[in-house]
Amino acid sequence: MPENYVTVSLEVPSFYPKQEQFMLSKSRYIAYGGARGGGKSFAGRWKAVLLAMRYDGIQILLLRRTLAELRENHLVPLQRILKTQKKNKQERLAQYKDVTKEFIFPNGSRIVLGYCDNEKDVLQYQGQAYDVIIIEESTHFTEFQFQTLTESNRPSGLMEEAFKPRMYFTCNPGGVGHAWVKRLFIDKVYRRSERAEDYTFIPSLVYENEWLMENDPDYIRTLENLPEERKQAMLYGNWDVYDGQFFPEFDRSIHVIEPKKVPDVFKLYRVLDYGLDMLACYHILIETNGDVNVIHEIYESELIASEAAAKILETTKKLGFTEKDVYLTLAPDDLWSRDASLGKSVNDIMYENGLIMTKVSRDRVAGWLAVKELTNIEEVRDKITGDPYKKAKLRIYSVCNNLIRCLPLLQYHDTKHNDVAITPHEITHGPDALRYFAIFWSSTPTLELAPREMRMKWSPDMIDDYYSGDRLTKERMLEKYGEIN
Ligand SMILES: Nc1ncnc2c1ncn2[C@@H]1O[C@H](COP(=O)(O)OP(=O)(O)OP(=O)(O)O)[C@@H](O)[C@H]1O
Ligand SMILES: [Mg+2]
Repeated sequence: MPENYVTVSLEVPSFYPKQEQFMLSKSRYIAYGGARGGGKSFAGRWKAVLLAMRYDGIQILLLRRTLAELRENHLVPLQRILKTQKKNKQERLAQYKDVTKEFIFPNGSRIVLGYCDNEKDVLQYQGQAYDVIIIEESTHFTEFQFQTLTESNRPSGLMEEAFKPRMYFTCNPGGVGHAWVKRLFIDKVYRRSERAEDYTFIPSLVYENEWLMENDPDYIRTLENLPEERKQAMLYGNWDVYDGQFFPEFDRSIHVIEPKKVPDVFKLYRVLDYGLDMLACYHILIETNGDVNVIHEIYESELIASEAAAKILETTKKLGFTEKDVYLTLAPDDLWSRDASLGKSVNDIMYENGLIMTKVSRDRVAGWLAVKELTNIEEVRDKITGDPYKKAKLRIYSVCNNLIRCLPLLQYHDTKHNDVAITPHEITHGPDALRYFAIFWSSTPTLELAPREMRMKWSPDMIDDYYSGDRLTKERMLEKYGEIN
């Protein structure tokens, strides 16, 4: 051995039988999952290390949903296993580059750590090639993210020997990706070019993890004490009882309809959720029978507040309505908070640009309950034939693609009862806007068309705005809200 080389030892732990099965499987897609705590992440991490050392030049992508999870679950343990912090560089098994979050091995192999916080984060992997992709907690990834990643799982061209690309998944039931993981690995229902022989599922149970049984019996007790449905999923790895979906009642055949002609009598609202990352704005038309129709969606990112206001006003016009047709424009009350550096709130800017908004509550639990009132499916009878059929108060026109996509993806919050999980953030914008409408509507479901000036009570904030506003502002406010009451 040349003089300047040192021997570096790698202490490989002994793996439990299921971990071994996972590590020895050679299918195209290998999932290891079910219950919590079986040692899935441990196995995934070690599989990456062993592949990198066994195959020269192999390119591996190891993913979790968020950076925080990645750091905690893999970055630190991998640094330890690969001795990247050793003072003497020659004693390191790999070099770690923080900028690119990758471990580079002397044989040319790489383990790249990544995360996909937002739906679109996955696009950064488009066009890249990884011989192996490991998706940790894969039920936290959307089907779109999974599909996009499969496109990057192809020969990197950097390996010296032949190697068939593979993807590894670890997972627990419940999450935005529950449905696609369950279909492919549990139900084994295959579509188009998917082939059954490409998919292997290895069920995991916490009781199989001897280390945890010995060192953390409290963790097992916590799982045993979960509410029954969650316990079935998290302790026994049952995929059928709990999928965590917040709106399991959502049914495209009932809640989604084709756009219809605007009726003669109606009430029109606009509601919005605004941030630079996304403007989600809906035109909502109420019919005389109380049906709530979400007729149009604006879903656009990177709009500053003035552009967002212009976009909303212009859309209303394009839809054939005038500003007078809009009964109220509802928005969450945090848009009224003043930005310290600007000295203005989003509402101030919207207002200067001609969009007058009405504050609504952001109370999440009450808001989601109000959305559930709207999505609730009832059996009613046809007035003429007497035939029973199912209907919900809420109908979404089929053009509102993002709302229709996101509502069924929403998951229960992990710890807050009756609330929705706030990740992945991207899927929350549309439903949040609907929630703002719903909470308003649940407290004010007035169907009569009141004279315009009766619509609003002037709040102290509005009165302030009126007196500090210029002539144009005053005129607009009087036109919109009537005389100060
Ligand atoms: N073969 C093993 N030898 C020693 N310790 C192990 C082994 N497998 C797992 N462990 C330890 O058991 C604990 C739980 O393992 P791990 O985090 O991999 O479980 P998990 O299935 O990913 O859990 P979760 O479902 O919560 O994601 C960790 O502390 C891990 O280091
Ligand atoms: Mg894990």
